[in-house]
Amino acid sequence: MANQTLCILGGTGFVGRHLVRALHDAGHTVRVLTRRRERHRELLVLPRVTVDEVDIGDPEALTAAFTGCSAVVNLVGILNEKGRDGAGFEAAHVALPERVIAACRTAGVGRLLHMSALNADPEGPSHYLRSKGRGEALVHAAHGPDLAVTSFRPSVIFGQGDGMFCRFAGLLALAPVFPLACASARFAPVWIDDVVHCFVQALDDPATYGERYDLCGPEVWTLHQLVEYTAREAGMNRWIVPLGEDLSRMQAWFMEWLPGKPFSRDNIASTTLDSVCSGPFPAVFDRVPATIEQVVPGYLGTRQKNPRYSGMRRFARR
Ligand SMILES: NC(=O)c1ccc[n+]([C@@H]2O[C@H](COP(=O)([O-])OP(=O)(O)OC[C@H]3O[C@@H](n4cnc5c(N)ncnc54)[C@H](OP(=O)(O)O)[C@@H]3O)[C@@H](O)[C@H]2O)c1
Repeated sequence: MANQTLCILGGTGFVGRHLVRALHDAGHTVRVLTRRRERHRELLVLPRVTVDEVDIGDPEALTAAFTGCSAVVNLVGILNEKGRDGAGFEAAHVALPERVIAACRTAGVGRLLHMSALNADPEGPSHYLRSKGRGEALVHAAHGPDLAVTSFRPSVIFGQGDGMFCRFAGLLALAPVFPLACASARFAPVWIDDVVHCFVQALDDPATYGERYDLCGPEVWTLHQLVEYTAREAGMNRWIVPLGEDLSRMQAWFMEWLPGKPFSRDNIASTTLDSVCSGPFPAVFDRVPATIEQVVPGYLGTRQKNPRYSGMRRFARR
């Protein structure tokens, strides 16, 4: 049903930017809630999209923002927290979904799409996966006649502006030798358009109510293969050096002290589980997911004149 008013949390991120555009193009009016409106003016070029600065820690502000919306999409997620005790993960992945459910109830919103992650599990090996698992469990505990919940559990997602190929291309541009932690970790990368397709369809497909969907691409790659492919596609001749367990942990420990904490020991703990689906792409979405080779050359090709500068621009997300 087109022409609904939807409210999205985390709509300014990588997944959010693609999803907001797709929902807009499907005829919906989209209200994006953000912590910092001035950073996301690019979304305002879409005529039926508004970007509102809202304190999503405040239950009343959340309820006010949801009022008049027929569905809420919660994409908020972090890969690393500022501290080390799991409190940041708990706030973003558990406490926020709890407030979202309460605000949906108070505002009379009957539909909630929730973004989780593959391997999310309250008993998982990392703060990230445990908190994602608890958040997912509590949104499904809230599923019922007044609130229809669907959650999505993707492997790593790729597409224009992603945190994988674009980020690695930027990092590879910095030096000819690239030490790589967790090189043997396995992923089934899924294309952002395939993920977005599922969200858009699920919005008003009753067959998806109450369901959780693992989303994977058609191929399994090791991290080493993914980084080698990135270097090749971006036209860079690089020596990629897989690090053993101890050196991987040492690199992660060091990077935990860098601004923005780009990598952590918690990330290493997450990769101890293969990020790979146990079955095919969910049949309800009637979609053949794309391969990396079908998509990535379109945004990471070697056509640019200077791959070093292009890599740096991608790293800086410009
Ligand atoms: N990308 C992947 O490969 C992948 C794979 C599996 C699952 N996921 C899940 O998909 C979701 C979206 O991922 P993404 O790659 O789009 O992430 P992203 O680019 O980092 O965007 C996340 C958004 O969440 C909001 N946010 C971040 N930290 C927050 C906090 N502490 N409190 C409130 N809001 C916060 C931010 O919005 P504002 O700054 O505007 O407030 C940000 O735009 C996440 O839940 C992630 O765990 C992603």
